Amino acid sequence: MKYTVVLPAAGSGKRMKAERNKLLLELSGKPIFIYTLEVFDKDPHCEGMWLAVKEEERQLIEDYVKRFGIRKVKGYATGGAERQDSVRAGLELAGQSEIVLVHDAARPFISPVVISELVERASESGAAIAGVPVKDTIKKVREAVITETVDRAALWMIQTPQAFRYELLLEAAHLAQADGFLGTDEAMLVEHMGHPVQIVESTYDNVKMTTPDDLIYGKAILASRLQEEQS
Ligand code: CTP
Ligand code: MG
Repeated sequence: MKYTVVLPAAGSGKRMKAERNKLLLELSGKPIFIYTLEVFDKDPHCEGMWLAVKEEERQLIEDYVKRFGIRKVKGYATGGAERQDSVRAGLELAGQSEIVLVHDAARPFISPVVISELVERASESGAAIAGVPVKDTIKKVREAVITETVDRAALWMIQTPQAFRYELLLEAAHLAQADGFLGTDEAMLVEHMGHPVQIVESTYDNVKMTTPDDLIYGKAILASRLQEEQS
């Protein structure tokens, strides 16, 4: 089943402490976000990508897209102050499609198998997002004292892509804006509408490049994938 994808790329990467948008940092000679775009560029079911970028970085990003031969970028929206604003701008520019995915440009290691599972689930139920079961024991803490140990079996770490019927996500995004509701992911906006959201089990290596140690992990993932290809 065909889909389009909106990729928020208009952050500033404060936690990466690189003094520039972390997406432009290179891993083995290629900017982080180019790896992300390549996954969708190669997926025959992806009909187009829409990036939300900062106005002042647009030209640089467009140049990279051309230089690395990415073919499916259809347009650039102007990102906003919050990730949610950037996603909404991307969605509005992308326009109608049956299924739309939202994927952080900062997650370059997403698996094509997970993408296809998300698209299937979203077309059946309206909304499906990627996540992995929590590995560690999780406790609630107040003033350095444990108040509760949470049942781990019920806990998942949520990632992107998040896949939706386009109409449902656009309605959720507009409702959130009207209500002044800020979510940390798209699913929260759909949950806010009272619509159920399914989880698709993803992979632990679908990490978001967030802090400097993630770059070390990212390089290790690339090296191990290269080794697999060569063996
Ligand atoms: N993003 C965006 N618009 C914003 C904030 C974030 O498009 N106003 C994008 C980022 O570019 C990234 C994705 O949303 O691809 C996930 O956000 P995050 O990892 O938090 O990136 P940053 O906001 O750039 O990093 P930080 O929070 O450390 O500043
Ligand atoms: Mg952020």
